[in-house]
Amino acid sequence: MAVKKILKYGEPSLREKSKEVHKVSRKVADLVQDLFDTMYTFNGVGLAAPQIGVNLRVYVIDASTKDNPMKPMVFINPKIIKKSGAVVEDEGCLSFPEAYTPVRRYKNVTVKAQDINGRTFILEAKDGSLLARAIQHEFDHLEGILFVDHCVNRFEADEILKKHNLPPIEEDMLLDEPELEAELEND
Ligand code: NI
Repeated sequence: MAVKKILKYGEPSLREKSKEVHKVSRKVADLVQDLFDTMYTFNGVGLAAPQIGVNLRVYVIDASTKDNPMKPMVFINPKIIKKSGAVVEDEGCLSFPEAYTPVRRYKNVTVKAQDINGRTFILEAKDGSLLARAIQHEFDHLEGILFVDHCVNRFEADEILKKHNLPPIEEDMLLDEPELEAELEND
């Protein structure tokens, strides 16, 4: 299909809550292809529809690494139905070119979603794997949440954003994550 322009941090529509897909139609299949074409062009691990200006609950992930090849995956109307543990890892986002900062995430997640054929599947991703983190990162995009909202150090994150000519941390969007913090302290 086509490589689309990726919306950058500061674009108001990245903060919108996306709408459910009612039918996995040809139009949705085309959107998924655009997401893959765009994600691979910019070497991303995942890409969510709102990042290319479509506020629908769809994202794609390819969490392959050299040592661990995986199939590209499509998530339509995803729901995170189980989560546990906590990790802190550096993260980035195609809407924040070159900017990376440590964020809190659940270590294990179970997601329920529809695939490109409209079939429901359940997937478990564990041990703070790239897949587990990508599932949470992309899910957030559908809620208008961005990875910097999870940052462990807002001052450090602000410095990084500034260095890459991106807007500063939006203080009212910062997430309070007592559950994750408690898990991290127990480790
Ligand atoms: Ni992202």
